[in-house]
Amino acid sequence: MSSSAAAPSEFSNPNLEPLISSEQIQTRVAEMGAQVARDYRDTTPLLICVLKGALLFAGDLMRATDLRLGLEFMAISSYGASTRSSGEVKIVKDLDVPVEGRDILVVEDIVDTGITLSYLLANLRSRGARSVKLAALLDKWERREREVTIDYLGFKIPDAFVVGYGLDFAERYRNLPFIAVLKDPSK
Ligand code: IMP
Ligand code: MG
Repeated sequence: MSSSAAAPSEFSNPNLEPLISSEQIQTRVAEMGAQVARDYRDTTPLLICVLKGALLFAGDLMRATDLRLGLEFMAISSYGASTRSSGEVKIVKDLDVPVEGRDILVVEDIVDTGITLSYLLANLRSRGARSVKLAALLDKWERREREVTIDYLGFKIPDAFVVGYGLDFAERYRNLPFIAVLKDPSK
């Protein structure tokens, strides 16, 4: 096989319909970070990045938050290789530290039905955190089944399956620097 053929571009894959550009994301996340820094100026919040989808958002949000803070990770079971939620929530990786008395800011990629977040926020509150708030990059509000208060929101989006900037379809497309609608999930 020849080694000179150019690799096919993942970022300009024809199965992707760009929805939110990298520039739009960076501008909005910078505003969100500034707001978080103002709101938490008298305390030392603990950011909880929900793996894996919120990885890029958490990285950019914390860089935009000029404040002393901590970072921890949790992993929650999600869709697997399907584009619809199973409705079951499971903690796959729990926190390594106690959150009693801490001001928690959960950092999540997207709120869809709200099933995952309503479970996770209640779970963290039950552990005695002083406050629990939510920063979500995307809100697919039309599909909500459980009420979830999003304290810091990036963008409201229509009911479509999106990928990129951390969000995946069957573990693919997390590396896109922008957010796109996946046109045909079977491809
Ligand atoms: P919910 O419990 O239905 O709110 O689902 C939340 C989780 O489903 C998110 O944290 C994502 O991991 C996943 N999810 C929901 N919608 C999308 C999407 O459009 N693209 C990729 N992942 C999604
Ligand atoms: Mg997620």
